[in-house]
Formats: sequence, structure tokens, C-alpha cells
Amino acid sequence: MLFLSVNVGCSNVDATTSKSIEYSPLIIAHRGASELEPEHTIRSYSRAIKDGTDFIEIDLRVTKDGKLVAFHDEDVSRTTDGKGDIEDLSLNHVKELRTEKDQQVLTLEEIIKKYGDSTKYYIETREDSKGRLVMEKKLIDILNRYNLLENNQVIIQSFSAKSLKQVRKLNKEVPIVQLVQTWDAEKLSERIKDYKKYAYAIGISSQTLSDKEVKMIHDENMEVHTFFRVELEKEETKRMIELKVDGMFTNNPAYLNKLLDGSK
Ligand code: G3P
Ligand code: CA
Repeated sequence: MLFLSVNVGCSNVDATTSKSIEYSPLIIAHRGASELEPEHTIRSYSRAIKDGTDFIEIDLRVTKDGKLVAFHDEDVSRTTDGKGDIEDLSLNHVKELRTEKDQQVLTLEEIIKKYGDSTKYYIETREDSKGRLVMEKKLIDILNRYNLLENNQVIIQSFSAKSLKQVRKLNKEVPIVQLVQTWDAEKLSERIKDYKKYAYAIGISSQTLSDKEVKMIHDENMEVHTFFRVELEKEETKRMIELKVDGMFTNNPAYLNKLLDGSK
């Protein structure tokens, strides 16, 4: 398998000792501890790190003047006091916006400068509104500048296979996760061999995941990372622990850690 060295998630047996070891999936703080603090802000990321996350998740967008920022939606109106699409706003404009609890939108570099190697980064790329690849080179350049690729400190995920293939072209080593939409998951058995050419894991919604899909992915020697619809996280997490997925997104790392402790 291409990325054996990045399997820092769960494993039932330690290959070097053949002893059973504890189930310990990767914990990925979805937009930070976004159940407790405004998503993608310093408050949210700091809380996630304090609460024992392995990775902070960063959704990337590009501003009109080409800067990478941590932002999920195309439009700024749900989470800030502004209006308009991020890609039509300059970074100066975006920095003037405020989220709940008076927080600023962050650039990727601000996040990396603040947290350094105190956490790991699980970064999502996407195409721009016209389907163009506008962030991959900027992202790899920044990650190289801060030496984050050498230290296995980053995972890159996307629903866009086009974006991930571009990332792989730019960097041969960074661990990649192919996200699949619920409706794509039905085609998983057809597509998985193609995904495996550049990705080491499949990121899949908990709603789509049963032991059948987990086995299919593990049989290909790939990892399974699962994400949740916000309103389903609480009821679905226990089922995901039983399925022994290799990584779990959470809006509340403290809650997930408590459940994992209780399952030992
Ligand atoms: O990356 C997994 C998950 O974050 C995908 O959903 O819409 O929250 O980015 P979304
Ligand atoms: Ca995301």
C-alpha cells in the first residue's frame, strides 16, 4: 500500500508485537469544535485542540485576490455579518467581517502560524464556482514553506477527484482522502480502484456506511473516515465506533473522546 506510514488511526493488532491494541480512530475536529464555538475561528480550533482532537479540519476558499482562507460556504452570510461570495471579496474585505462572538475569518497561514506543530491539519480543497482548480498550487506552496509535508502533519481531502489528482501531481507523498457524496457511494465498488491510485482513505457520510462498505474499503487496504450530518452525529457516532472506522469527524471532540473512553 502506498501510504502505510500515515496509518496513524486504528489498528486491531500491532504488527510488530501481534498484541491487541486499543481501538483509537483519528479524531478530526469538523471546522474546529464547531458545536461549541463559531466554526473555523481561533475559538473553535483552540477548543478542539484543548479537547484532544488529532486534526483540525479546514475548509478552504480563495478570495478575489487569491488568498486561501478557512471558510466552508460559498457565501459569507450564514456565518458572518457580511454578504456576497468569498471569491468576489478581497482579503481585506473578508478580514473586516465578524462571526458570532466577534471572531475574524482566518487565512490558512494565520492558522498554521498560530498552531504550528501543536496539531495536525485535515484540509479540504474544492473547485471554484466555475469548476477551475485555483487552490492546489497555493496550498502545496504554503505547506512546503512551513515544512508541514515532511512531518506527516497534513491530510488533504476533497469531493473533487480533479482537485485531488492535481494535488498528487504537485506532491507525491501527502496523504489524500477521497470524499464521496451519498449518491456516489452506491458506485463505490466501481470507483474504488481508481481512488486508490492517489488516495489512501475514503471519506464517507455515516448515513451511507454499513459493515459492507467498511469491509469493501478495508479489503482494498484503504482507510475509512466518516463524517456526519450535524443533526445525526450524536445518534450515529456509537454505530461508527462499532464499525471500527479509522477516522471520525466530530463537531465536539470532547464528546467523541468521552464515548471512545467509554467503549474501552
Ligand atoms: O470533510 C468532510 C465533511 O467536512 C464534508 O462535509 O460540507 O462539512 O465540508 P462539509
Ligand atoms: Ca469539510
